[in-house]
Amino acid sequence: MQATQSTESDGKARYGLDPYEDWIAREGLPVAEGLALDLFKVETADWPRIGAKGAITKFRGAGDFCSMFVVEIPAGGSTIPQHHLYEEIYFVLDGRGSTQFESADGKKRAFEWGRGSFFGIPLNATYRHFNASGSQRALLATTTTLPLMIKVIHNEEFIFNTPFWFGDRTGKDEYYQGVGDLHLIRAGQNIWETNFVPNLLEIDLPEWEDRGKGSGNINFSLADGIMHAHISEIAPATYKKAHRHDSGAHVMTLSGGGYSLLWDDGETEFQRVDWTFGTVFPPADMQWHQHFVTTNEPSRYVATAFGGIRYPTLDRRRQLVIGKPGEKQMLSKSVKEGGTQLEYEDQDPRIHALWLEEMRKAGITPRLELPVRK
Ligand SMILES: [Fe+2]
Repeated sequence: MQATQSTESDGKARYGLDPYEDWIAREGLPVAEGLALDLFKVETADWPRIGAKGAITKFRGAGDFCSMFVVEIPAGGSTIPQHHLYEEIYFVLDGRGSTQFESADGKKRAFEWGRGSFFGIPLNATYRHFNASGSQRALLATTTTLPLMIKVIHNEEFIFNTPFWFGDRTGKDEYYQGVGDLHLIRAGQNIWETNFVPNLLEIDLPEWEDRGKGSGNINFSLADGIMHAHISEIAPATYKKAHRHDSGAHVMTLSGGGYSLLWDDGETEFQRVDWTFGTVFPPADMQWHQHFVTTNEPSRYVATAFGGIRYPTLDRRRQLVIGKPGEKQMLSKSVKEGGTQLEYEDQDPRIHALWLEEMRKAGITPRLELPVRK
């Protein structure tokens, strides 16, 4: 039998494909790109798939597995029911409304959200968002695993139209009411398991002093998903230690004022992001980053990424967020001990000098003294 051959010149060879990029092109939404984005300023457009408005973000630091979308629900509007074979974690930037879920057995669950709410969509659950206001838009950001799933499956119909119900992902009824289970493992690894957090600005945070005095931190396991999510707090008029990890951590500022520095190994200059509520900036793969507070209020940020403490999924994530048995996670250990954190005494002297100068300009008394270099 004669084989059908494709040759270099016939134009039929299919290679170097990117089904996620193809999907973005088909959706026809605005794409916002940058080192950092202020989500309040991202342009949205009608998104027929969801019956509301939306935009897609692209960051160098987003990595291969996750992406963030902006969802805008006009006053009095709602999204049309959706379900899909990728995970989503929502944060409410503005407005108030509700999200309703319907299980395959017909059971309905719902919660009401407002600015600061945070929730996970159980895998392939049917859900719908409602804006409760007749005069104000609702603005949400959602981090998703769509890039991974559509690249692996490369079949849009299967991603968005598979009826299988993952009953094991639904979670307890209380998880839809703002109630959760706190699993205390160790500082930096504690988990709040739920599906819905009414307000990230009000949740209590256990201490995580490894990353800087007065730091607090909690990880979330939302809808038993594999995505990572955590919230951290930086004490007023201080800053955290520099650290680095894999890409994909969509860091979003929730409160306070300040800036972050980012730099790659070997770079002599820092990239700087000045942030406020709604600023997002995922550091790139193994790019150093450090967060500085220049106000007298604590600052909180939330990060959503691929591979959490419950399901690290990748061995590299396991090393970073879990570590070896009996040892701290790499994220909490100094580079001198094989970790990925830079102690204050080991940082570039320009870093502290810049912060002191920013504090002087802001008229704020610094509350962090550097230990003497050993
Ligand atoms: Fe980080």
